Amino acid sequence: MVIENGVDRRELGYYSTPEFIARFMTDSMLAINPNGKYALDPCVGKEEMIKDFYHQNIDIDGIDIYNHGDYYYCNFIQGDFINFYKECKSNLLFDQKINLKYDYVIANPPYNCHELDYIRTNKRNLNLLFGNIGVHNMYSMFISAIIDSAKEGALISIISSDSFLTTRMHNPLRDQILKNCSIHYLILCPTDLFWDQKADVRTCILILQKGTNFQKSVRVLNRPKNRNELQLKLEHRSFISTELDTIINISANDDFEFVVDIPVEVQSLFSSPRIGETFKCITGISTGQDARFISKEKKEGFEIPFYKNPGTRKFYCEQDGFLTNDYLRYDKEIKNFMVRNKSYMLKEGITCSSMGVSFGACYLPAGSTYGVNANIFCNQADIWWLLSYLNSSLVTYIVRGILCRSNMITSGYVSKIPIIELDNVTKNLLEKIAKDAYGKRMSPKENSVTINLIDKIIFEKLGFTEEIEDEIIDFAANLKSRV
Ligand SMILES: C[S@@+](CC[C@H](N)C(=O)[O-])C[C@H]1O[C@@H](n2cnc3c(N)ncnc32)[C@H](O)[C@@H]1O
Repeated sequence: MVIENGVDRRELGYYSTPEFIARFMTDSMLAINPNGKYALDPCVGKEEMIKDFYHQNIDIDGIDIYNHGDYYYCNFIQGDFINFYKECKSNLLFDQKINLKYDYVIANPPYNCHELDYIRTNKRNLNLLFGNIGVHNMYSMFISAIIDSAKEGALISIISSDSFLTTRMHNPLRDQILKNCSIHYLILCPTDLFWDQKADVRTCILILQKGTNFQKSVRVLNRPKNRNELQLKLEHRSFISTELDTIINISANDDFEFVVDIPVEVQSLFSSPRIGETFKCITGISTGQDARFISKEKKEGFEIPFYKNPGTRKFYCEQDGFLTNDYLRYDKEIKNFMVRNKSYMLKEGITCSSMGVSFGACYLPAGSTYGVNANIFCNQADIWWLLSYLNSSLVTYIVRGILCRSNMITSGYVSKIPIIELDNVTKNLLEKIAKDAYGKRMSPKENSVTINLIDKIIFEKLGFTEEIEDEIIDFAANLKSRV
């Protein structure tokens, strides 16, 4: 994807917003405030998002770090928006706010600049500028800066990666949004939205208004199956209208996620005890250099089974390799070879998936070691029913639909999984099922009957409506398009 003058667009995090999305965003803002005069697109690109504002005679400023060519609709300012924000902030007197003049801010902030030099080179300054918001990626900094610099009543519409809705590191950003804005729309976009631009990004559209007293109901849309369905839903404005409370899932004292269309019955499960409160839920070894310290085959000096990511596998998985026998020595001698939670090494337990879309849990035999994925240690009596529970569609839904929509499930998320109340008879049943699946070394392709059985048992305990059950099952069975 090389543009005219040899710059790779992906390097700039460039993905063009489809016209129907830009139209929906502008129309929605104009419906809330038809009388604004000024608009800003702080990463204007090729002016994809601002045409409709222009046709409403709105005066538009467009900033971009890079000059993408002929600018027609906006007053183009070539520059770094983050730097612009920094300058605005540095000119403030105590307690003053930036209060930019714009009535509308529209943006599709740059995406995968995570690896880019920008953050690395400017880390110190960015850390000072963004404080607890963090400098994890470009789009979260853009969202934070846009909100902070907007005046009271300004409308803000952003299409961006949706990872900030759930990941723990973005809790402060969610907090900033809630404390400073009213939320009018939260829309999850289909995964294929940017496929034609070779981008596999999960995105959402957020329409906010600076100031909390504009809050009425929030219009939400769960992730449509594909781009056409999204277009139809936006055109027909078929949203669910809901109270702000229902899109906030409280998963810990200071943590919450923005969720879309998650039934209150499921959210209320979070008042149950959590995995991390009930059992030991931990990570293990990072070698800093897996190729050197982990062998694919068992051989002399590399004899300790090492598990790092069951991925799509449930109940049974083979080790991912064999760890060097000298791992405890290396922990002492090599700086970035780390063995955490040493007293739990070689114990039997449960090992959970980390990277990838799926969430699964497998039995971790005694004598094994494990990586930075989540691993659970409990009494022998609890291992097998818990294994069934963790592989249920309900837990997949909780983990991937509520706690973390991004592709890295750490022990922090697994710790937050609520454990529903189960009597001993039910636990025995679940135990049998898990032992059977493990004994048969069931592959992901073979386990659907087993999962159905577990789901049936769990749903019977919960008494959810059929509609909720169907939604949970559909989500878990179609993770790729539903997460
Ligand atoms: C995802 S593209 C969006 C382009 C266009 N606005 C659209 O919606 O189709 C992000 C844009 O941000 C620009 N960009 C990257 N870093 C920037 C920065 N620090 N300040 C301003 N613009 C930046 C890129 O050049 C690119 O045009």
